[in-house]
Amino acid sequence: MTSTMQITERQRSLLQRTFIDYLPTSEFLEHPLIIDRAEGLYYWDVAGKRYFDAIGGIFVAILGHRHPRVMKAMRDQMDKLTFAPPLHSVTNELLDFVEKIGEVTPGNLKYVKPYSGGSEAVESALKFARQYFKQTGRPGKYKFISRYYGYHGATFGGMGASGNGPRKSKFEPQMDGFLKVFPPSHYRDQFGTWEEANRFAARCVEDVIVQEDPATIAGFIVEPIGNTGGIITPTEEYFTILREICDRHDVLLIFDEVITGFAKTGDMFAAQTFGVTPDIICTGKGISSGAVPLGAMIAREDMAEAFEGRPEQNLHFAHGHTFAGNPLACAVGSAVLDEIVENNLCAKAERLGGYLRSKLTCLKKYGVVREIRGRGILLGVEFVKDTRTMAPFPELGKQFKLAAIENGLILRADPNWFAVAPPLIAEEQDIDEMYSLIDSSLQQAMARVSRS
Ligand SMILES: Cc1ncc(COP(=O)(O)O)c(C=O)c1O
Repeated sequence: MTSTMQITERQRSLLQRTFIDYLPTSEFLEHPLIIDRAEGLYYWDVAGKRYFDAIGGIFVAILGHRHPRVMKAMRDQMDKLTFAPPLHSVTNELLDFVEKIGEVTPGNLKYVKPYSGGSEAVESALKFARQYFKQTGRPGKYKFISRYYGYHGATFGGMGASGNGPRKSKFEPQMDGFLKVFPPSHYRDQFGTWEEANRFAARCVEDVIVQEDPATIAGFIVEPIGNTGGIITPTEEYFTILREICDRHDVLLIFDEVITGFAKTGDMFAAQTFGVTPDIICTGKGISSGAVPLGAMIAREDMAEAFEGRPEQNLHFAHGHTFAGNPLACAVGSAVLDEIVENNLCAKAERLGGYLRSKLTCLKKYGVVREIRGRGILLGVEFVKDTRTMAPFPELGKQFKLAAIENGLILRADPNWFAVAPPLIAEEQDIDEMYSLIDSSLQQAMARVSRS
């Protein structure tokens, strides 16, 4: 098995003139990967090597790559219209998308604004919340509470809400008005049960709201399943308590479903999986299955009333992006939604996820797995040095990531855990193939760590 892809001098010198997300170019050059094409569950690199895509690129290609229905919707739309003047018009594709999203959201979350990705959706939600309070007689509500370990985007608002210090400190000072609490995982070893840790973590949110003064708090933004923290999967009660707290203090509950949205958790949104209706949902990633950049902010319909009035009042959401609501992107989003609904892919995520979880549980035999977390097809595995001390094992995670790529497997690998969310076109035999690559990669990583 070759461990490193060969690249040309031209590719090497051009790589020096761009950058890889969150990775030093020098490190990337040690194990470069240049992707050439994709189909269904697989990528191929420019050297012809095939990779099983266990994570839809990065939680994106939920229907796999180049899904026929999505490609047809794109081609049809390309023959008709790919851009409309955003300051003058909307398109039927945008309106269809708004209608279709409204049919699958929880509660009355039917006010929809499409964007080009997750960060734009989050940024828009933060601004929408602030303007909403200013226009409804509560102008002092401007602060947002979010969680350490969370990730909400790369823009200044999304970064302000994100809770990973090393990713943020390079850009200080951060925007004002962002407060942090810890997720339940931070307290897990201090309580007898996971349920207790969740109750404590949820109640801490109320302490912060009260001490800051509820009249200054606009919203609490949270990923229902926290990816960067290692697929942090709270109890349903955690969200019920958060909902009560937010209601009590007139604070908006904002779910960042950029990763969890669109069937992965066994429902269209994780809000439905956890049985709680937020006031705003931010989406992205899987909404286009990777065919085009697309995201959306989805808010309670009654909140939109604060933005309605006679023309001379000039009431409007003072926010826009050139590519927001692009007809090509909206046509793709509608095709993805139709595919999920017509084929009941939420139920498939639940069923296939159960099978995948049972396979991943087999990794416990190696004595380096603390637990399998997640819901539906969105699952994470935490590595530990041994299951008695539960000490983290980042050396193993690093070797696992390298071994996976060598073996032709793309997943989300953090030194302390890894995550998978295979496209929903997979069947049990595909999960078997994927699991076998995970299993052999882990064995190789363990062998390398024990040798070093
Ligand atoms: C939970 C969450 N929110 C927001 C974002 C930002 O989305 P994008 O990268 O599309 O801007 C991400 C991206 O990974 C994410 O995982």
